Amino acid sequence: TTVLGIEGTAWNLSAAIVNEDDVIAEVTETYRPATGGIHPREAAQHHAMYASAVIERLLKEFRGKGHHPQDIDAIAFSQGPGLGACLRTVATSARALAMSLDVPLVGVNHCIAHIEIGRWKTPANDPVVLYVSGGNSQVLAHRAGKYRIFGETLDIGIGNALDKFARGAGLSHPGGPKIEEYAKEATGYVRLPYVVKGMDFSFSGLSTAAKDALKSSSLEDVCYSFQENAFAMLVEVTERALAHTGKNEVLLAGGVGANMRLREMLDVMCDDRGAQFYVPEKRFMGDNGAMIAYTGLLMFKSGTTTPIENSHVDPSFRPDTVDVTWIADKHQ
Ligand code: ATP
Ligand code: FE2
Repeated sequence: TTVLGIEGTAWNLSAAIVNEDDVIAEVTETYRPATGGIHPREAAQHHAMYASAVIERLLKEFRGKGHHPQDIDAIAFSQGPGLGACLRTVATSARALAMSLDVPLVGVNHCIAHIEIGRWKTPANDPVVLYVSGGNSQVLAHRAGKYRIFGETLDIGIGNALDKFARGAGLSHPGGPKIEEYAKEATGYVRLPYVVKGMDFSFSGLSTAAKDALKSSSLEDVCYSFQENAFAMLVEVTERALAHTGKNEVLLAGGVGANMRLREMLDVMCDDRGAQFYVPEKRFMGDNGAMIAYTGLLMFKSGTTTPIENSHVDPSFRPDTVDVTWIADKHQ
């Protein structure tokens, strides 16, 4: 089975063709804002401008490896969550492509795609997933036919919180990697809010408090303290999800997963609990076309496709509304 997938929920437009064995071809065009954060309209214009060139280059790469467009069994696209204007651009390309190749469409939940590429590209089988990116922060695990959300952010994603603080501190976008570097030079800890409510966490107040703390503390110390608090909150909820579900694997997903301090804290927690900790290669952690294509392949093979009339995008598409038709369930 061969599936072409298109991702474009935010800043990355990426298309890939995969089969059960591997990623056959992948082409990515990244939108980089001139100033500040992502401007949704500009990002959508970027995707619209590059969509046909990306698909053309992808099909060329595919042919170059001895395949034919007629070998493609389905077209997958990220249906949400994400920026509405970006999602609509990608969905339009996907519909056109599905019609011209006369194959089914598969609308993919972006959060689930992060999980499935991790299960494909690491030995993780039935993990508790910590998905941390700019727009999303969730702890998920499979149970009774769905990916359940065990905990999530009550306001903004951890990546956006880091980026927002970094912008306020005069650092360029994206701020996450810069904060990680400054944190390494810290000499002390600054008291900042630690907000876990039940199984959920909140980052907006922490981001604002960190900005205020810059008036009396060094950037290095504030970066360090921001990371320590935010990551401890995420690790605490991940650990409680492990205890609650009885699972013994943790999978890290999303762009913030590049952070080595977060990985270290998760690694220590997993070690303490006798759980396995898995991190995919970096190219499969941030937004990528391969994850959409591969999840589309799993859905298509289990009989799930998306008729054109149901292919409208959903900017707040929740992963726990999707029937996971491709995993046999032991605990019905
Ligand atoms: P989504 O659509 O899933 O919300 P996204 O558009 O935010 O994804 P990702 O590539 O998953 O894209 O994540 C980007 C985020 O990751 C940015 O907020 C960026 O600051 C953050 N990030 C990248 N590298 C690091 C790092 N080393 N430490 C902390 N944060 C990082
Ligand atoms: Fe993402």
